[in-house]
Amino acid sequence: MRYLTFALTKGRLANKTLEMLEMLGITCEEMKDKSSRKLIFVNEELKLKFFLAKGPDVPTYVEYGAADIGVVGKDTIVEEGRKVHEVLDLGFGKCRMCVCGQEEARELLRHHELIRVATKYPNIAKDYFYNKKHQTVEIIKMNGSIELAPIVGLSEVIVDIVETGSTLKENGLVVLEEVCPLSARMIVNPVSMRMENDRIKELIVNLRKLLQEG
Ligand code: PRP
Repeated sequence: MRYLTFALTKGRLANKTLEMLEMLGITCEEMKDKSSRKLIFVNEELKLKFFLAKGPDVPTYVEYGAADIGVVGKDTIVEEGRKVHEVLDLGFGKCRMCVCGQEEARELLRHHELIRVATKYPNIAKDYFYNKKHQTVEIIKMNGSIELAPIVGLSEVIVDIVETGSTLKENGLVVLEEVCPLSARMIVNPVSMRMENDRIKELIVNLRKLLQEG
């Protein structure tokens, strides 16, 4: 039997995924050793391999078939636009993609003014403003701490992830518009989906059952 390889998003999403897999009896003891510098972990018995990657790299590994299966946020799937099958909403990592800014920016949005939008997600921002809202804006790609942009006057608004809303609140910002809801998703390489259909289907069915049981 060939190995099925999983690419997991380093951090909370990977931890949550491993917890779920463990409930199905799929474990990876090696991975629990936090002091290890190892990058890839094997479950010989079940013929599975796991590795951790940065979110935006997960769809890349899956598109090229270096991983059969990936777990990553919906935000990253949409932003990266890779050729992968999204097969399951895992229900955790729930948050929202939003347009945020200071309250005063609401009027600028309403009047379709030519504003600046800072974001880590330029493709999502472009699609939202150009295709959905038919509003011309200037998009500025940033790499993190996006909430700074409207505070220091780089942009009028941001397109960013809101989970609890506390980052916004602590910085005097508000949600102005909602772009879409987000959560962790399972993605599959299209060729793997055909070649390993039985094993992957079984995994999806079992995960779905687990999700329904709550
Ligand atoms: C994300 C996001 C917000 C924050 C939202 O940032 O970009 O800044 O979390 O969470 P909250 O609504 O619960 O406050 P992340 O911590 O991933 O880091 P980043 O600033 O580098 O993007």
